[in-house]
Amino acid sequence: MDKLVVEGGRRLEGEVDIAGSKNAVLPVLAAALLTRETLRVENAPRLADVESMLGVLRDLGCAVQGGEDEAIEVKAPEHPSQRTDWELVSRMRASFCVLGPLVARTGRAEVSLPGGCALGGFRPIDIHRKGLEALGASVRTEGGYVIAEAPPGGLRGAEMYLGTAFGSSVTGTANVMMAATLAEGRTVIQGAACEPEVVDLGRCLQAMGARIEGLGSPRVEIEGVSELGAVEWSVIPDRIEAGTYVIAGAMTGGRVRVRGCRPEHLVTVLERLREAQIPFEVGPDWIETQARDPRAAGEQPRPTDVTTHPFPGFPTDLQAQWMALMTMAEGRSVITERVYPERYMHMAELARLGADVRREGALALVSGTPRLSGAHVTASDLRASAALVLAGLVAEGETHVHRVYHIDRGYECIEERLRALGAGIRRERVERERVE
Ligand code: EPZ
Repeated sequence: MDKLVVEGGRRLEGEVDIAGSKNAVLPVLAAALLTRETLRVENAPRLADVESMLGVLRDLGCAVQGGEDEAIEVKAPEHPSQRTDWELVSRMRASFCVLGPLVARTGRAEVSLPGGCALGGFRPIDIHRKGLEALGASVRTEGGYVIAEAPPGGLRGAEMYLGTAFGSSVTGTANVMMAATLAEGRTVIQGAACEPEVVDLGRCLQAMGARIEGLGSPRVEIEGVSELGAVEWSVIPDRIEAGTYVIAGAMTGGRVRVRGCRPEHLVTVLERLREAQIPFEVGPDWIETQARDPRAAGEQPRPTDVTTHPFPGFPTDLQAQWMALMTMAEGRSVITERVYPERYMHMAELARLGADVRREGALALVSGTPRLSGAHVTASDLRASAALVLAGLVAEGETHVHRVYHIDRGYECIEERLRALGAGIRRERVERERVE
């Protein structure tokens, strides 16, 4: 396994270009199963998760070309396999997005139940099941697999509500919306996810010939069609990657321009940065933090409370990074995680760096401290590992972030990009990883 060694105390300066969105490209790649034509993605990010999804699609019989620095092309066979490989799906929960397209295209799908993950607690799939059952599929769990079967005449459009106690379901909406594009008749999804990644998937499906209205609203209507066609698609920029680099600039007090992003996808985050009195400017496709000394009296971030919500609320995927920023604030902030109530695994690791953080039920209390100090820390999930790298950028001495395979899932070449901004960061192989 690898670790990232981060040298604290350097101000980041310069420009960073944002890659295509991980959480948009994964369901878009799964949509290739809906057609016998070629789906081409121009700007897929170079991520471990993209490779995992391509592995699942190959395993289902799809022809996959490109990747790394070039466009990706996926062409599903006339009769794709109907069963995913357990080991491949267990690597990445988002592989579950092949369920809807597979059952809509072939009438049956056997997809391994996604494992739990470090976001804390159980991550159910009841909404995926509810939506597919509303379309007439029979759905059962057997031997660790979810088996969905369309009725003899195929899926039929229906009205349904896909909200959960924690808001809408992003991949739940994606799975059901994809299945509904080939269902007979009209489908109305109430409580649909409004995330930009779901809108991007919907627009890609429209480009393939799907008839969808209401994208970006909680009510999405789909008129089924008999088949979908080829598409060449460029996914939206990754708003979470963009937000992560903006927070990195804010924490180190440097002038960092995050280019090729969509500021309108980060409205709530920018609002909180203003509340924290972090100076930055916004252009049509860029955000630039302004230089300042974040440690100087009066220049520290103001303590700013955050509660995570589905889009357009503050994104849960930036909660850990925000917590890292608030360890530098001149006072106490309250962070409330409403989407994944247990998504606080990063707190123990931030505390190892000297952060003054503690849980009070559903709340995380963060009191700013004058300085963090470098230590060995262990990443638990993709966004927590990003937060630990950010904290390492401002901690005294070196911070060793272990198990960085998490970070490689969602951040393209993070150490190269941070080094280009002036960070002292290197990747090292760890021969013998501490086993918990
Ligand atoms: C997507 O996961 C993202 N992943 C996550 O990003 C993101 O954190 C999450 O949405 C919330 O925005 C991808 O898009 C690949 P959900 P998803 O279904 O779709 C509950 C990252 O770091 N729920 O929207 O799996 C669930 O427990 C990852 O890039 C049900 O109750 O999340 C959670 O509390 C991490 N029943 C809430 O809904 C269900 O059937 C939101 O989950 C499904 C979900």
